[in-house]
Amino acid sequence: TPRVFSGIQPSGGLTLGNYLGAIKRFVDMQESGIETLYCMVDLHAITVWQDPADLRHNTRELAAGYIAAGLDPSKSILFNQSQVSAHAELGWLFSCIARMGWMKRMTQFKDKAGKNAENASLGLFGYPALMAADILIYHSTHVPVGEDQKQHLELTRDVAAKFNHDFGVDFFPMTEPVIEGAATRVMSLRDGSKKMSKSDPSDASRINMTDDADTIAKKIRKAKTDPDALPSEVEGLSERPEARNLVNIFAALSDMDVDAVLSDVGGKQFSEFKPMLVDLAVEKLSPISTEMARLMNDPAEIDRILGEGSGRARAIATPILEKTYDIVGMIRS
Ligand code: TYM
Repeated sequence: TPRVFSGIQPSGGLTLGNYLGAIKRFVDMQESGIETLYCMVDLHAITVWQDPADLRHNTRELAAGYIAAGLDPSKSILFNQSQVSAHAELGWLFSCIARMGWMKRMTQFKDKAGKNAENASLGLFGYPALMAADILIYHSTHVPVGEDQKQHLELTRDVAAKFNHDFGVDFFPMTEPVIEGAATRVMSLRDGSKKMSKSDPSDASRINMTDDADTIAKKIRKAKTDPDALPSEVEGLSERPEARNLVNIFAALSDMDVDAVLSDVGGKQFSEFKPMLVDLAVEKLSPISTEMARLMNDPAEIDRILGEGSGRARAIATPILEKTYDIVGMIRS
C-alpha cells in the first residue's frame, strides 16, 4: 500500500523554495487520497545550533505554514519528529547499518560542515541515517522533496537494502523519491547558480513565506536578470539561469508547465514579465502568509494538532519498530 512521508527542518523561516519544491507537492499528494505523513524534523534541526525559543517558534511557524498552504490535519498526519521516539530509535539502528564512507560522500554534509568538518556535530554527520529512519519507520513508499534531497533518498534505499540483506529479510521497502514539477530547484534571486536558501545571508536572495506584498514585489523587481527578451521555447533558457528561474517560479505558482508559460510570455522584456510575476506571487502567497499569522495567534491549538498527529504517527511506527527490534535480535519482554 502506498504511503507518503516527507519532512522539513524547523531551522528558520520557510522560503519560496520550500513551498514550491516541497509543501505545494505535499498538498497535491494529500489531495490524491493516499495516506500522507508530514513532519517537522526538529531532531534534524538541532544538528546545527538552534536557540531553544527560536526552535519552538520555528516549529509552530512551520506547522502554521503547512496548514495555511493547504495541508489539512484531518487528511494528513502532521507532527513533529521528537514526539515520536521511534524515529530516534530506528535512527540508532540505522547508524549501525550505514557506513562512514556513505556519509562522507553526502554533499549536504560537505556544504553544511564547510571547511571545518572536524568541528561539525556528530549528528550532522549521521543526519542521513536518521532521515532514512524517518521514512522507513512508516514503510513509506513515496517521498516528495526538492532536487537537493535526491542523494539522501538514494542513501535511504541503500540503508533499506543493506538491512534487508544483512538480516536476510524483505522488510523495508525501496522508497521512490518524487521530485516533480517546474520548481524542484528554486534558485537565489541574486545569483542563478545558487539555491534559494533560508541560510543565505542576503534576505533579498529569497522570498520568505512570511514576506508581505510590498516585500515580495520589491524582491522580484530587484531580482537579477539578463538584458534579453524572454524566449518562446525552453531551449532559449539553457544558458540563462536567472531567466530560467523566474520562468520556473511563474510556472510552478500558476500550475502551468514551462512550455505553456513561454508560449504566453515569449518575446516580452523583463520590464513587462516581472510585474506579471509580482501579481501572481502576491495573489498566491499573500493568503498563505495572512493565514500563517492568524494561526500563530493560537500556539496552543498548533501544539494540540501536533500532539494529535504524533499519536497517529506513533500508532503506525510502533509495530514496525517492534518488528525491527525483533529482526535484529533484541529482547522485548
Ligand atoms: P530542508 O528542511 O532543507 O528543506 C525542506 C524541503 O524543501 C525543499 N527545498 C527546495 N526545493 C526547491 N528549491 C529550493 N531552493 C529548495 N530549498 C529547499 C527540500 O528539497 C526539501 O524537500 N533533509 C531534509 C529534511 C528531512 C526529510 C526527511 C525530507 C528530514 N527527514 C525525510 C524528506 C523525508 C532537509 O534538510 O530539508
